Amino acid sequence: MLFTPFELKSVTFPNRIVMPPMCQYSAGEDGLANEWHFVHYGARAVGGVGCIVVEATAVEPRGRISRRDLGLWDDSQIGPLQKMVDFCRSHGTVMGIQIAHAGRKGCGPELVAPSALPAGPEQPVPRALSQAEIAEIVEKWAAAARRAHQAGFDVLQIHAAHGYLIHEFLSPLSNHRQDEYGGDLRGRLRFLLEIIEAVQKEWPKEKPLSVRLSAVDHLDGGLTIEDTIAISSELKQRGVDLIDVSSGGLMPAPIKTGPGYQVPYAEAVRREVSIPTIAVGLISQVELAEEILLNERADFVALGRELLRNPYWPLQAMTGQAEKWPEQYRRAALK
Ligand SMILES: Cc1cc2nc3c(=O)[nH]c(=O)nc-3n(C[C@H](O)[C@H](O)[C@H](O)COP(=O)(O)O)c2cc1C
Repeated sequence: MLFTPFELKSVTFPNRIVMPPMCQYSAGEDGLANEWHFVHYGARAVGGVGCIVVEATAVEPRGRISRRDLGLWDDSQIGPLQKMVDFCRSHGTVMGIQIAHAGRKGCGPELVAPSALPAGPEQPVPRALSQAEIAEIVEKWAAAARRAHQAGFDVLQIHAAHGYLIHEFLSPLSNHRQDEYGGDLRGRLRFLLEIIEAVQKEWPKEKPLSVRLSAVDHLDGGLTIEDTIAISSELKQRGVDLIDVSSGGLMPAPIKTGPGYQVPYAEAVRREVSIPTIAVGLISQVELAEEILLNERADFVALGRELLRNPYWPLQAMTGQAEKWPEQYRRAALK
């Protein structure tokens, strides 16, 4: 199953192996991609990853997790990404990018969030956004989407997980707003739906649109899998094509981890909403990856840290398929 192609809109994924977004904190302060990104992503493309989702890329400087984040808030940031995208695509890899806003988990000096609530006891208190500011930020997401398209990306992923700005709106623990951007799930979802609508004006209809969600907060009173099913169902109706199902990140929480620990969330969303999903979280073994796909628990498997350890994981899993190895490496193909 790992090497079965998958079609979404105009894009054919050559296999089901995804490299999930992983911050490298290696861009210049101007948010420009450089040689590090070219080599890092290029190696995984050569290694046979079906779809690379480039790390969280800020839609505005205030939305950076660190001063070394990639950015797509300015047209000057398109060129270096485009060069990298062209190279990776020439190896048959589908190229995605995650666009993001860190909200209260930003690097400062200005931290913004739905409500003036910190991410933890020792964390700084952000400023609550006004409605006019919310409207401005929505437009920043749309402009970043336009630039991602210009850079040649095939897939766009909106980062709505891990305690960053959109997740802060979604969770009742971080959103105490009294206006139409808060309250019940419908209100808390408004910000994300407005971003999707704005992004869809810039991101071509024929290219897949993905959203990454934290399926649960792992905290009392936080988001539950039932909320995530309701959110995903709404996203599907609004034209989202693929849900990347992660969890946690809003505030420190006790989590029990182990191989495939988040797969049940991806499975629940896929089953209840009938939408393609990516499963992620401690998936390192070919056998586990195959089991997830074979039992239709997810449509894609994402391997994060495993692909940092071993960019050639996909090639090594392709035993006996020397023709799928890059020509330059074929003499090393595993029988
Ligand atoms: C170095 C590193 C950076 C990460 N950066 C991001 C990121 O930019 N966006 C995101 O959604 N998740 C990020 N994550 C989470 C990963 O995408 C993935 O969900 C997580 O590592 C679990 O998968 P794994 O067990 O296969 O590593 C990061 C993880 C690591 C290890």
